[in-house]
Amino acid sequence: MDKIIVRGGHRLQGEVQVSGAKNAALPLLCATLLAAGTHELRNLPGLRDIDTAVQLLHIMGAQTEAGAPGTLRINADDIICAEAPYDLVRTMRASVLVLGPLLARLGYARVSLPGGCAIGARPVDQHLSGLEAMGAQISLEHGYIEARAKRLRGARIYLDIPTVGGTENLLMAATLAHGRTIIENAACEPEIEDLATALQHMGAQIEGAGSDTLTIHGVDSLRPMNHTVMSDRIEAGTFMVAAAITGGDVLVVGAQPEHLEAVISKLRQSGAEVHCVAEGIRVQCNTTLQPLRIKTSPHPGFPTDMQAQFMALLTQADGTSVISENVFENRFMHVSELQRLGAQIRVEGRQATIQGKANLLGAPVMATDLRASASLVLAALAAENTTEISRIYHLDRGYEKLEVKLKKLGADIKRVS
Ligand code: EPZ
Repeated sequence: MDKIIVRGGHRLQGEVQVSGAKNAALPLLCATLLAAGTHELRNLPGLRDIDTAVQLLHIMGAQTEAGAPGTLRINADDIICAEAPYDLVRTMRASVLVLGPLLARLGYARVSLPGGCAIGARPVDQHLSGLEAMGAQISLEHGYIEARAKRLRGARIYLDIPTVGGTENLLMAATLAHGRTIIENAACEPEIEDLATALQHMGAQIEGAGSDTLTIHGVDSLRPMNHTVMSDRIEAGTFMVAAAITGGDVLVVGAQPEHLEAVISKLRQSGAEVHCVAEGIRVQCNTTLQPLRIKTSPHPGFPTDMQAQFMALLTQADGTSVISENVFENRFMHVSELQRLGAQIRVEGRQATIQGKANLLGAPVMATDLRASASLVLAALAAENTTEISRIYHLDRGYEKLEVKLKKLGADIKRVS
């Protein structure tokens, strides 16, 4: 298994290009199941999760052809298999996003229950109750979701929580339903707006994209998508934190300020300088960091996917910070590993208290989930001596060549097998 070795203490300087957004690309790949013909997706990031999603499309019967780097053509004429098997779904729970498209296109879907993961139970009850409201018969047998519907019909759905995946599944299903669907308390993450844009270009009739109320007028069929994936706001935010934690000066090219307002605001509160420029976002930091209070919440609140990264940053702040993780029930797996580097963190339920400024010392640590891995890399950049991070397959799920990009910025970092 690969490891990443970091010698900390180097200020990061220069420019880094953000890749396409994993959390936009995954639902977009699933949306190709909605329409026959040849779809084209550009700016796809080179990630393990993307490979897994493409593998899933192949299992369903889609044919794919790689074009220029980041470009994939997907032919979805013959979607003959409506089953998403357990061994794939368990490696990537976003596979559950084929449920809505398969049900809408074929009238049937058999998708393994995703099961939990390191950060929480991650149920899909909202996905299922929304599809039932649209007329689907759903049963759970042997760990699989079996869903049937001659043709989905429009419904008024009120989500108990603004679930990202639930909103995406129901949005995709509604595009081919008979009649009008209204999804209230929908998630408003930018990735959902990107998906809605692609669906509209496919001929879907959607109002309210990017808001908490989506109205979809079903159509009989859709045409193939031709779409460029938005930039990854979480990767961008991770590089912005890397600049701040090393006291550096980094231009994150392709970062979109309108997707990162809460992150920009918190970075500025911590004392970093954040400049929104034409090419992206520039972060400079040469002062002592100030402590923060952070509460994660659905967009446009502070993103849970940036929580672990900010925890690493706040170990270097001069004072006591408090982070409340309000989206997932177990997203503090990075705490014990950060403590191995010398971080002073106390967890009580959903709240972590970080005492700074901690003098971090390199040590062997272990990645436990995607954003925890990023948090350990960030802490290692600020730690003295050498840090060895194992199980970085977690990192490869969501960051394209992270060590290569950081090395270009001046980090002393390498991957060893
Ligand atoms: C998406 O996961 C992202 N993944 C996650 O990013 C992100 O952390 C999350 O949204 C929140 O922003 C992708 O987009 C592929 P949710 P998702 O459904 O859709 C509960 C990363 O690091 N819930 O909004 O699974 C659930 O248990 C990943 O890139 C229900 O109770 O998130 C969780 O506590 C990690 N019932 C909360 O809602 C449901 O039916 C948020 O889940 C659905 C969700």
